[in-house]
Amino acid sequence: MYKLLRALLFRLPPETSHYLTFTLLRLFYHLPGASTLTRSLFARHPAPLPVTVMGLNFSNPVGLAAGLDKNAEYVRPLADFGFGFLELGTVTPRPQPGNPKPRLFRLPRQAALINRMGFNNVGAGKFLVNLAAQGKPCPLGVNIGKNRDTPLEQAADDYLAVLNSVYRLADYVAVNISSPNTTGLRDLQQEENLDALLRALKNEQAALADKYGRYVPIALKIAPDLDDTQIAAIARLVLEHKFDAVIVTNTTVARPGLADNPLARQSGGLSGRPLKELSTDVIRKLHNRLQGAVPIIGVGGIENAQDAWDKLVAGADLVQIYTALIYEGPCVAQAITRGLAERVRASGCATLADAVAQARQQKAG
Ligand SMILES: Cc1cc2nc3c(=O)[nH]c(=O)nc-3n(C[C@H](O)[C@H](O)[C@H](O)COP(=O)(O)O)c2cc1C
Repeated sequence: MYKLLRALLFRLPPETSHYLTFTLLRLFYHLPGASTLTRSLFARHPAPLPVTVMGLNFSNPVGLAAGLDKNAEYVRPLADFGFGFLELGTVTPRPQPGNPKPRLFRLPRQAALINRMGFNNVGAGKFLVNLAAQGKPCPLGVNIGKNRDTPLEQAADDYLAVLNSVYRLADYVAVNISSPNTTGLRDLQQEENLDALLRALKNEQAALADKYGRYVPIALKIAPDLDDTQIAAIARLVLEHKFDAVIVTNTTVARPGLADNPLARQSGGLSGRPLKELSTDVIRKLHNRLQGAVPIIGVGGIENAQDAWDKLVAGADLVQIYTALIYEGPCVAQAITRGLAERVRASGCATLADAVAQARQQKAG
């Protein structure tokens, strides 16, 4: 059924169909029974696949990646699609319109997207109002960023400001220093800058945990376009600063497998199938260095249970998807969870973590 709907939606420009779909969904949720109906359509047979990561309990390990619900407007319907958690944002201290349109491109043959959205969002104030109104149907992460016009030297002030705003309502906070669409942002991944930023964030987190009597984990979201030296430096710093998780990865500025596609020339971040191997490779390299001391959330090109499994075996503890939701539709989270549950059953292990550990061992041996 989604194939038919997709054929219609894909006739519209990508941002228009996104806006249309989610506005209709939001209106639909004013009707009684909307949530039950959505669940029965898209997540009728939830497979029990509980995992605990960063001290948080997830009903399943398949989350929604940042960028789809930038303003915390669609939490209920997205949770009813069967996601184990949702990452909202990126939200910046002040509202900003993002880059001029067109800024989002579909590449259906490669099941990919290129975007240069540029952190279009309503700003932390309105975001909080939205978030407070949504309730908490599943664990909610909030992905935070800096405003476009904030100089890089003052970036930490932006991150600390939004961390303060969202701390009370977030289950975890993701620090986005890896979007390719905000000039200079990825420079924050360089060792010296990152050391200072992580220190500032951890100090603030400690103060906020004291103030509110609740520890909210902080994850760092990194790019796939990193060399081995950069990955080693990030691993060293997240260990040193006792960061709570690393999200691996954001979109890529590379264009693997798009040689004959004219859209490859569009600037921005590439997501979906062509990103898959690149991001799995970074997960593997980071995991080799972290050895489980800091959890990894794997994201990039996951379309099905096999892709999710590959990320888990490479070193991820949780996974996220974005582009596959556009191409596969709202059943995709449940389909992946069920496929993973099937793997656990076949392994004879009691939990997903045990099944993944067994597979990692078999691979190493
Ligand atoms: C249109 C679009 C907007 C995105 N916006 C954000 C964002 O605001 N913040 C962020 O951290 N990642 C953002 N991302 C990156 C995704 O969260 C994810 O890391 C990336 O798309 C790889 O996953 P996928 O291949 O499953 O899409 C965006 C991706 C897309 C396609």
